[in-house]
Amino acid sequence: MKIISTDVLVLGSGIAGLSFAIKAASFAKVAVITKSEIAESNTRYAQGGIACVLDDKDDFKKHIQDTLIAGAGHCNESAVEMMVTKAPEMIKELMNIGVEFDTNNKKLLELGREGGHSHNRIVHINDMSGQAVENALIKKAKANSNIKFYENHFAAELLKNGEVCVGASVWDVVHEEYLTFESKYTVLATGGAGQVYIQTTNPEIATGDGCAMAYKAGAKIGDMEFVQFHPTALFHQNANGFLISEALRGFGAELVLPSGKSFMKKYHPHGSLAPRDIVSRAIFSEMQKYATDFVYLNARHLSAKALVEKFPVIYSTCLSLNIDITKDLIPVMPAAHYMCGGVLTDLTGATNIENLYAIGEVACTGVHGANRLASNSLLEGLVFADRAFYAIKNKISKFEKSKILLDQVPVTNFSNIADEFTLQYLKNKVRQIMWNDAGIIRNKANMTSAYRSLDQIEHTINGLCHRYKPSTNLFALRNIVITAKLIMDAAIKRNNSIGSHYIENKSVVKNKDQVLV
Ligand code: FAD
Ligand code: SIN
Repeated sequence: MKIISTDVLVLGSGIAGLSFAIKAASFAKVAVITKSEIAESNTRYAQGGIACVLDDKDDFKKHIQDTLIAGAGHCNESAVEMMVTKAPEMIKELMNIGVEFDTNNKKLLELGREGGHSHNRIVHINDMSGQAVENALIKKAKANSNIKFYENHFAAELLKNGEVCVGASVWDVVHEEYLTFESKYTVLATGGAGQVYIQTTNPEIATGDGCAMAYKAGAKIGDMEFVQFHPTALFHQNANGFLISEALRGFGAELVLPSGKSFMKKYHPHGSLAPRDIVSRAIFSEMQKYATDFVYLNARHLSAKALVEKFPVIYSTCLSLNIDITKDLIPVMPAAHYMCGGVLTDLTGATNIENLYAIGEVACTGVHGANRLASNSLLEGLVFADRAFYAIKNKISKFEKSKILLDQVPVTNFSNIADEFTLQYLKNKVRQIMWNDAGIIRNKANMTSAYRSLDQIEHTINGLCHRYKPSTNLFALRNIVITAKLIMDAAIKRNNSIGSHYIENKSVVKNKDQVLV
């Protein structure tokens, strides 16, 4: 068993993990573990940008208020205030490492608008904001000799000595062996869990690994019922959840029915730019009413030149699927997008497990409440990475070593590989259950029976884990079902509809013999 010692172990290489690693490398040796290539992350696909108060006519109070309203009264106000007021400093730091946000003709940062914001305040790099930020962070991190990257390494379990986190057990995907990482501090930055749902905007890596690992290690998890569904994923058999940014609606595109009629004003005075939970539910209701799988986004009345310039990725991706957004209506549907809940932390990213921190989408810091305000997520990643950096920096000199107890390090003697078809089948079964029963509109009785199904599937998956050699897909499947159960359980326990958790009251006919109330 190879043991690798480091001061700080960072699990994940998105905006949270990388921005933390860069800062922590000023005082510590940092190992960054990432299960795929460095750049692969939710961060890389972010389109809209980062919310930040920069305009003279805007102010922190308005951004705080918008965040609290979107969060449906379930936010931690101190966390929101801290995040919003730190935003300008975070944007400056990104610019200092080479991120070139779009500017207007006065050479000021161009501020976009998204749902739920009362003012234009989204800094962006056309519709590739995440990619530009991720690339700049990777460049900066790679230039730092205190940071060592481990790509294609899957963090499988957190290691504890008593109640103290002492590192993680990591599966080296290429060499097919477990490595033990021993660390003074461990920082979970593993991102979201969109893949728990069959319809999602998230890439393959977003399988809820951090939540599952932390839960198994005894970390407190919260707000899992609050899964945000983005209203406008492209509806096309080859789109694979491709996002049509809310910024396009911020630029004037409007949601319409297949008949061409707009419908959002009857749901909210802000129409197509209402908070996301409201827009997703409205689309879902209209889809049910008209028995259609999608509605349309209409951008045809907008300047074709501006659309191509400002939304090059959306324009070219749609065009490759024979949809010309300057001329055609864009078919869209809601899809699982963001996990508001996660590993509970304080305002420094510390969890209830000593020496374990959680930052970014994996964490539940209280800033998003029951529904995240658009473009507050990249910001949260930056701000809490910064908070965790200061907290660990202040503590590290007083660190008391806690030994790794090698008896909890997993060993594997299995040579047989689990059948990929079975793994895929079980994964899609879980994802379909979640979409049907813990989706945009939920029903208590359906969720209770769905939980029982998830339990049975988990039993089967645990059997596979005990019989077959570890693999990325087997780990991911295990983590998907653990995360699915955490979401379903939290959703069953919450009786009131709030934010992105919406319970319908009517009875639902499941099949001809069974009427559920
Ligand atoms: P991620 O960026 O997802 O990074 C997680 C990292 O952890 C990855 O490197 C992953 O490979 C690694 N990892 C996961 N599990 C393991 C494991 N077991 N072992 C090792 N490594 C692991 N937010 C905004 O604020 N503005 C936007 O415009 C915006 N647009 C979005 C568009 C899309 C299509 C999507 C999907 C999300 C968008 N979001 C946006 C949300 C935002 O991108 C994410 O919430 C944010 O990037 C999360 O950052 P993170 O660092 O926490 O996680
Ligand atoms: C988008 O561009 O619509 C996504 C923004 C976000 O998720 O915050």
